[in-house]
Amino acid sequence: MRVLGIETSCDETGIAIYCSKHGLLAHAVYTQTDIHRIFGGVVPELASRDHVLKILPMIKAILQEAHLSLQDLAGIAYTAGPGLISAIMVGAALARSLGYALQIPTLGVHHMEAHLLAPMLEEEKPAYPFVALLVSGGHTLLVKVEALGHYQLLGESVDDAVGEAFDKTAKLLGLPYPGGPELAKLAEQGQRGHYQFPRPMIHSPDFNFSFSGLKTSVLQVVTKATLTPAIKADIAKSFEEAVVDTLVSKCRKALLHTALKQLVIGGGVSANKSLRADLAKMASEMGAKLYYPKLEFCTDNGAMIAYTGCQRLLLGQHDDLTIKARPRWSLEELTN
Ligand code: KG4
Ligand code: ZN
Repeated sequence: MRVLGIETSCDETGIAIYCSKHGLLAHAVYTQTDIHRIFGGVVPELASRDHVLKILPMIKAILQEAHLSLQDLAGIAYTAGPGLISAIMVGAALARSLGYALQIPTLGVHHMEAHLLAPMLEEEKPAYPFVALLVSGGHTLLVKVEALGHYQLLGESVDDAVGEAFDKTAKLLGLPYPGGPELAKLAEQGQRGHYQFPRPMIHSPDFNFSFSGLKTSVLQVVTKATLTPAIKADIAKSFEEAVVDTLVSKCRKALLHTALKQLVIGGGVSANKSLRADLAKMASEMGAKLYYPKLEFCTDNGAMIAYTGCQRLLLGQHDDLTIKARPRWSLEELTN
């Protein structure tokens, strides 16, 4: 089964074709970074307008790259939420209409489920059940994954998402948008342990996270310090250490609690090198193994949408003719 995947939930237009027999056939991501940079963050209206411009030419190019025509597709999957509603509607309306015209099953995919399943695109992939840490710009979720569509939320952020904390802290340091990767790059030049930022909720008995206080602690240091490049790098390093320590501690607890030996990470922040290294170390100390997507599939992309859609379409699931677009959508509402 060949499935076209369409991702437009934020500031990336992602298009891919996944085949249940031969894997990923072609994919492309267009990033709108240059459009939003001067505003210091994503402007939803501009994001939607750009998706409108990019989506059809990208679908045409991907079909050509895979040496396929629209008639070779057996299904269409699109991001139906959560995300920016006006941006989601571009992909959703196009995907649903294309499915209607081609008379093929079409399915609205949950963006975070797609991040959760992105490591399945790799050769070395986890087997169910496993624990998943999803860290993106809008969500921080720790999930017990029993099987496709069987998700038990162990914990989540009570305030800012990890990616959001990275982006806001990067702004405090005067770094350009998108802040997360810029801050991570700067942290590579910083000294370990120079500033002692809090590890929020690290001792709480639950699996929840809180990152807004951490950002405030950084603000206190930033307002007092003379921000030389070296001091900025030290702040970035200490901030990253605090975030990574917190995430590692909660993941260790979740592995112990569930007695599972596989940990999966996904979402934009899973591209962070320190996070990957420290989680891999913790997992191996516990006799467990860490799985993650390749860098291009950590951040938003069409391949994870095509893969997730394909798994559900293979089970006979598809939507009716209504166009599905949900800015908020809990992962636990999904079933199989
Ligand atoms: O999953 P994603 O592409 O979009 C959402 O679904 O939100 O995640 C984007 C987030 C942004 O907050 C970005 O700053 C962060 O992931 N990010 C990183 C890194 N690469 C992307 N944060 C820390 N280190 C990175 N290397
Ligand atoms: Zn995402």
